[in-house]
Amino acid sequence: MHKDVTPVWHILGAGAMGCLWAYYLKSAGHPTTLLLKNCAALERFLSTGNITINSATSLASLPVRAELTTQKGNIDYLLLTTKAYDVIPALSAVAHRLHPNSVVILMQNGMGIAEQVCQQFPELNFLLATTTIGAHRNAPFCITEAGLGPTYLGNFAQCMDPNLAQQVYNYLCESNLDISFEPNLNARLWQKLAISCTINPLTAILNCKNGELIKSDEGIQLIKAICDEVETIAQANKIAINQPYFQQVLNVAKQTAENYSSMWQDIQRGRQTEIQYTNGFVIQQGENLQVETPTNQWLIDIFNQLEEESSQAHTHEKNYSDYLH
Ligand SMILES: NC(=O)c1ccc[n+]([C@@H]2O[C@H](COP(=O)([O-])OP(=O)(O)OC[C@H]3O[C@@H](n4cnc5c(N)ncnc54)[C@H](OP(=O)(O)O)[C@@H]3O)[C@@H](O)[C@H]2O)c1
Repeated sequence: MHKDVTPVWHILGAGAMGCLWAYYLKSAGHPTTLLLKNCAALERFLSTGNITINSATSLASLPVRAELTTQKGNIDYLLLTTKAYDVIPALSAVAHRLHPNSVVILMQNGMGIAEQVCQQFPELNFLLATTTIGAHRNAPFCITEAGLGPTYLGNFAQCMDPNLAQQVYNYLCESNLDISFEPNLNARLWQKLAISCTINPLTAILNCKNGELIKSDEGIQLIKAICDEVETIAQANKIAINQPYFQQVLNVAKQTAENYSSMWQDIQRGRQTEIQYTNGFVIQQGENLQVETPTNQWLIDIFNQLEEESSQAHTHEKNYSDYLH
C-alpha cells in the first residue's frame, strides 16, 4: 500500500521545524496537512491558509491544509515536530487516527523521548530524525530559515520493516532537503546531545552568544567537564565516538559564534526548555549506570531556578499587560 503513491503527510507541531518541513514537502508536490491543537490556532491559520518562509535570499508563501488533531481520518505519514516535552500528549491526541501501517517520524532535540514513545505506543512504526537545519518563528506559521544543513533519519530499537523505512526515506528525499539514512543513528544523537548539554544551557545561564563561551578559560573548562561526563556515559552505552565531544563542541561554538542558542531564546521568552531531555537525560543515565555526573547536576540545579525565574517574569509581564488592556 505504500508503493507508487504520493504520500500524504501530516505535520504535528506547526512551529519553526514543522512549518519548514511542511513547506518543503508541499513544494515537492506532497499533499501536506498541519495538525493544530485548538480552534484558536486553526482560525489564525485559516486567516491566510499559508506558510511563509523568510530566507537570506527570498520570502515565499505556500498554501497547505490544516485541521484539528481531534478530527477523524487516517494518518499514513506523520512528522512530529513538537518540543520533546509535548511529544506524548501530542501523539496521544492523534492516536485514534494511526493504523498498523502508519509511520511516525520523531524529530526532537535531546534523548529519552523515543524510549517513552516505545513504552506507550508499542505497536507504532517510528523513525527518528536529527537535523542541523536552523529555523525560528517570527509569527504563527511565518518562519525564518536560519540555515539548511543535513538531516539524518534512522531506526530506533523498535525496528520497522526496512522496506517501509526505505520508502519513507525516498519520500523525504523528494523534498530536496539534504537527508541521509543511517541504520544506527545513536552515534549522531549522542554527538548532538553533547552540544545540547553544553552550548544550550551555558549560553542561557551566562546570557551570551555561542562564541562567547570559548573566550574564557572558565567557559572552556566547564564545557570540558560536561563533555567528559557525557562521553563517559556514551562509552558505557558502547557508542562510537570518532572525535572527542569536547573538540566537537568547541568547533560548533566557533562556527556558530554569532548565534543565540535555542535554549537562550526559550529562557528570554519565558518558555519551557528541553533541558530534561538533554542534561536531565545524562543525569538519569548516570544514575542507571552508577556513574557520577556532578557538573551536569550542578548545571541543571542552576538552570531549574533560572527557568522558574524567567517563567515568573513573563507571567508578571503578561498579567501587567492584560491589566493595561
Ligand atoms: N528550530 C530549530 O532550529 C530546531 C533545530 C533542530 C532541532 N529542533 C528541535 O525540533 C523540535 C521542534 O522545535 P521548534 O523550534 O520547531 O519548536 P516550536 O517552534 O516551539 O514548535 C513546536 C510546535 O508544536 C506545537 N504543539 C505543542 N503541543 C502540541 C499538540 N499537543 N498538538 C499540536 N501541536 C502542538 C506548538 O504549538 P504552541 O506554540 O501553540 O504550543 C508549536 O507550534 C524541538 O525538539 C527542537 O529542539 C529545532
